[in-house]
Amino acid sequence: MIKINNVQKAFKKTEVLKDVTIEIEDGEIFGIIGQSGAGKSTLLRCINGLESYDGGSIVVGNQRVDIKDKKKLRNLQKKMGMIFQSFNLLERLDVYHNVALPMKFWGIPINTPAAKEKIMNLIKLVGLEEKVHARPRELSGGQKQRVAIARALVLDPEILLCDEATSALDPEITKGILALLQKINREMGITIVVVTHQMEVVKQICQRVAFLSHGKVLATGKPEQLFVWPKEREIRDFLREESDKLPTNGVNLKLFFFGEGNQRPIVTQMSQELHTDFNICWAKLEDFREDVYGSLVLNMNEKDLEKACKFLDSKNVTWEVLK
Ligand SMILES: Nc1ncnc2c1ncn2[C@@H]1O[C@H](COP(=O)(O)OP(=O)(O)O)[C@@H](O)[C@H]1O
Ligand SMILES: [Mg+2]
Repeated sequence: MIKINNVQKAFKKTEVLKDVTIEIEDGEIFGIIGQSGAGKSTLLRCINGLESYDGGSIVVGNQRVDIKDKKKLRNLQKKMGMIFQSFNLLERLDVYHNVALPMKFWGIPINTPAAKEKIMNLIKLVGLEEKVHARPRELSGGQKQRVAIARALVLDPEILLCDEATSALDPEITKGILALLQKINREMGITIVVVTHQMEVVKQICQRVAFLSHGKVLATGKPEQLFVWPKEREIRDFLREESDKLPTNGVNLKLFFFGEGNQRPIVTQMSQELHTDFNICWAKLEDFREDVYGSLVLNMNEKDLEKACKFLDSKNVTWEVLK
């Protein structure tokens, strides 16, 4: 659906995107995660032609994004709805007219029965039928984002681009917005690109994710592949979880459990079989959409390490010695 191939972009002399290559499939919820300043928003703006790029290519559907061809670009932009952290609603318009705004831009009448039905259906979809006539200032942050989502869908886009859409919302409200995005993806078949610095967002809804750092893609994969056991040092630093809390004596061994592995009493079995005690110094269970992934750090004597690793191998448990 979206093919980003070796895209480069600089502001003056500062390179902001360096050979970015990402392929986003039709119907997918794809995450782009990274620290502030990594280039995420710039990349998203290049995808929908709000920003030009200097090298490489971006193809949406089967059309190349080229900001010089204004007419083609406008038609392409119609296929892509976008939502932002700041909602960008017009204060002087009520919910109905904010949602209808893109239709007005396109010269589509908004008072015909068909248009009314469409706008009202979207307002219902986002759960705001009681607020149709409310102004943005009468709405909570979560409700404002729901209006923005309805507005982004009003021209029947194939793609929804979300730039830090939940970053200004508290965790409970975020969950509701993410559930709504999942519903839109599932029921309307809309491809969703989620740009965020929030791990939780990616873990909860993205099928695949690209990790962007200083304008480069460090890794692409399923969130559980990238975040439960990141091989890349920079991703580990970004997550920075257990490292500052571990004992400095002995060895720290990190174990990973996937799916049914969560239900096995591996650590107590290992302790009994090897006649040794281990110190459990850190543990975490994480939800990735439907699956639960666990990780655990054991501290042990250097002399026990080899047999512990052998035991874990025999039980098919993934492990890593933490340095
Ligand atoms: N219009 C602009 N002019 C100059 N520099 C910009 C502009 N937009 C973004 N940048 C710079 O590009 C880098 C990436 O920014 P951005 O894409 O907003 O990152 P992110 O969304 O990951 O936080 C930053 O260093 C930012 O300062
Ligand atoms: Mg940004």
